[in-house]
Formats: sequence, structure tokens, C-alpha cells
Amino acid sequence: MIDLHSHILPGLDDGAPDLASALAMARIAVRDGIRHCVCTPHIVPGLHPNTGLRISARLALFREVLNRAEIPLKLSLGAEIHLTPDLVGGLHNRVLPCLGRGSAFLLELPSAALPPRVIGFIAGLQAAGYRPVIAHPERLRWIEARADLLLALQKQGAVMQITAGSLLGRFGSRARFWSEYMLDHRLVDVIATDAHDEQRRPPLLSAARDRAALWVGEAAAHDMVHGTPAALIAPRTEAAIDPRRGVTAFLPAGGQLSPAAGDRV
Ligand SMILES: [Fe+2]
Repeated sequence: MIDLHSHILPGLDDGAPDLASALAMARIAVRDGIRHCVCTPHIVPGLHPNTGLRISARLALFREVLNRAEIPLKLSLGAEIHLTPDLVGGLHNRVLPCLGRGSAFLLELPSAALPPRVIGFIAGLQAAGYRPVIAHPERLRWIEARADLLLALQKQGAVMQITAGSLLGRFGSRARFWSEYMLDHRLVDVIATDAHDEQRRPPLLSAARDRAALWVGEAAAHDMVHGTPAALIAPRTEAAIDPRRGVTAFLPAGGQLSPAAGDRV
């Protein structure tokens, strides 16, 4: 399996606090059948000011540690990117990294309030050649009132990633309801761990894959943890990228959205 969303890299955000924790997470992941982990630390202006360069450097160090410990877990570059000004520019100059070698990136939308003109925003990203993977929509609070947007966003080309723990009830009944609703309505593209540590939010994927199979069948559930993530991280075609066509229309002019209290999920 390929885990498309993980905070395994040590010391970059609210994920693995240190190398010991990151190593423990890697061992748990491999035992569960995960062979490839896309490292997606938060990039949140003013809170987790990571960059592609900083994440790459930490990833190279951790890859070396995994090799020495003989843990067979492949690592790829990524990030969980909060809304920032000039998102397309950041993606284009790689300050904001895409997932693996592809042109998809993991987008963390605000949870507390629906961003205005979100459909147009996603369309602009698509027009610029980038494909947003929406991180855990089942945990966004505004989905409660605007479930119709899930289908609209997916039709627009956004990829929907639910979190394994949501489906297993680890984030409460509401997140489980919405993850089941999304499976019911064929709105799930990817299941990932969003692992943060080895205890509370460990990198486990197989139980959620098996549960998803009850809704969509084994082949489709396998695709959610292997085929689709593999396609998303495969090398992109540079010709498809056109940063001039991107929009950041709903961001305040010249400003940035700082994460509001309760935004983080
Ligand atoms: Fe995350």
C-alpha cells in the first residue's frame, strides 16, 4: 500500500516529535503492509513555515536512517498545504511541493468555514495544471451543511482523500458518518492514514481498506490505497503546468489567510 498523507518526518510540525517516534511509526506502517509513504508535513503560514527544500532535506536524512535500520519503507516528498497567497506560484517554484513527482498536491481547506468561491478556486488550480487532493473532507465542519459540494468539487477534478481513522470511528461518529456517506456515494478516491504519531494517530491503513471494501468491493478499495495514490505521485508532464492561468481569487488582496481557531483537523 501507498500512504499518501503522513506526518512521519520528525520535528517539522505536530507529527512525529523526534527520530525515535518517526522510526516507530515506520515500523508500524511496514507491519501493516505500507511500503511507500508520501511525507506530508503541514505548511501553514506563521505556524508551520515549511518549504519544499526544508522537507526534502529532512526526508533525505530520514531515508538514510531507514536504510541503516533496514526498514523497507520508500519515502516520497509532499506536504499538506494550507491556503496561502499565490498557491499556484508556490507550487510552480516548488516552495510548496506536489505529491511525489506528480502535479497533484494535498490541500488542507479551512474546517470551520466554507471558503468563498471554492469551486472557482479549484477550477483555477486545475487550469494551471495542478490537481488538488482534498485532505479529509469528511472532517471539515462545513460539509455538514454543504455535502453537495463534495460532488461538485470532485466533478471539478479534485481528488477526495478520507482518513483511515475516520472510517473506523477514531474521530467520532460524525467523521465516520461522512466517510461512510462518501463511500456510499462513490466520492472517495484515496484512503490515507494522516498519521501523526505511533500511539494516538498511528500509520495504519489495512483495516480501513478492508472496511471500505464492504461498500465498494475489494478491487476498488485496493485502488484507494494503491492504484490511485501511485497514479497521483507518478512523474508529471511539465507541459501541463501553466502558472499564469492559476487563480487565488478568494484570498484577501495582498493578504493571507491565517488559520482560525478550530480550523485545524
Ligand atoms: Fe494531515
